[in-house]
Amino acid sequence: MKNVEETMVRQASRLAVAPMMDWTDRHCRAFHRVLSRRALLYTEMVTAQAILHGDRARLLDYDAAEHPVALQLGGSDPADLAGAVRIAADWGYDEINLNVGCPSDRVQSGCFGAVLMERPALVAECVAAMIAESPVEVTVKCRIGVDDQVPEEVLPRFLETVAAAGVTRFTIHARKAWLQGLSPKENRDIPPLDYPLVAAMKRAYPHLHLSVNGGIATLGAAQDFLALGLDGVMIGRAAYHDPYTILAGADATIFGGDPGPDRAAAVAAMRPHIARHLEAGGRLNQVTRHMLGLFHGQPGARAWRRMLSEGAAKPGAGLDLYDAAAAQVLARAA
Ligand SMILES: Cc1cc2nc3c(=O)[nH]c(=O)nc-3n(C[C@H](O)[C@H](O)[C@H](O)COP(=O)(O)O)c2cc1C
Repeated sequence: MKNVEETMVRQASRLAVAPMMDWTDRHCRAFHRVLSRRALLYTEMVTAQAILHGDRARLLDYDAAEHPVALQLGGSDPADLAGAVRIAADWGYDEINLNVGCPSDRVQSGCFGAVLMERPALVAECVAAMIAESPVEVTVKCRIGVDDQVPEEVLPRFLETVAAAGVTRFTIHARKAWLQGLSPKENRDIPPLDYPLVAAMKRAYPHLHLSVNGGIATLGAAQDFLALGLDGVMIGRAAYHDPYTILAGADATIFGGDPGPDRAAAVAAMRPHIARHLEAGGRLNQVTRHMLGLFHGQPGARAWRRMLSEGAAKPGAGLDLYDAAAAQVLARAA
């Protein structure tokens, strides 16, 4: 029997914003939460080692307004991961996710991320250790395989092995990672997408909660996957670059709830967050760099982007610059 909290997070995972290093930091998440009250948000990946030995407040603090929010961990040592989960439990994240998809060199050298697709038994040990320490659901984000693995063979075995250790919710980035010869960026575009395989996994394992990720750029496409029987859709780059279209539309389209704010209301809703950040000694662009896409496709979008990207990094840049950038773009929309 699932508890209420877990049921709510699973509902939120009908539409999730992907974990993205350097992008989905707390300021980005605060902005995304203004646009959608319902979507599930993920942190950037944080390594277990960093939590064990680093500045925990900097790595783990977030704003209560961000809920529901999932913490993504990277690692491959069961004891380290368990220790990181034990520490992070105090922060009250709604889900803990293990990264089995990231192909970057740094991650490969530590033997974690996508290379773990080759080691399902180790992933099972990791998640079992995490589950033993976690007050919330532990989930896995994976690929369909790596290098010359045959996805039709390895993905079912991976899901079965990890599910036997207690994970029943997965997000599958529907392409392989090629660990040699492609940059992390190329690994998000070049290996071909295989959505039918992910749909086949849902048919084969109806008791697993499966979300699909990779190359999904519209809410219409997300709806199509849900209609196919997938439990959730995770969107990364499209949600970051065109946050208004994806996220302000999501609550009504995907969750059957109220429509999101209009752009002017979103600008206004971010002012208190920005003000607090500036008061705490932060810079304007640390927040506004995530908001450059707010007016994507609208008249004045270019000036909004230019004013914020040129001005907001300067010392002393504050709400007056933010308000001026918003005023010029909103005047053109009126
Ligand atoms: C800048 C950037 C950073 C990323 N960092 C992570 C990460 O920390 N953890 C992870 O699991 N995936 C990471 N990813 C991959 C995304 O979560 C997602 O799987 C991928 O972008 C495919 O989804 P999309 O086509 O909707 O963008 C990152 C992607 C981008 C663009």
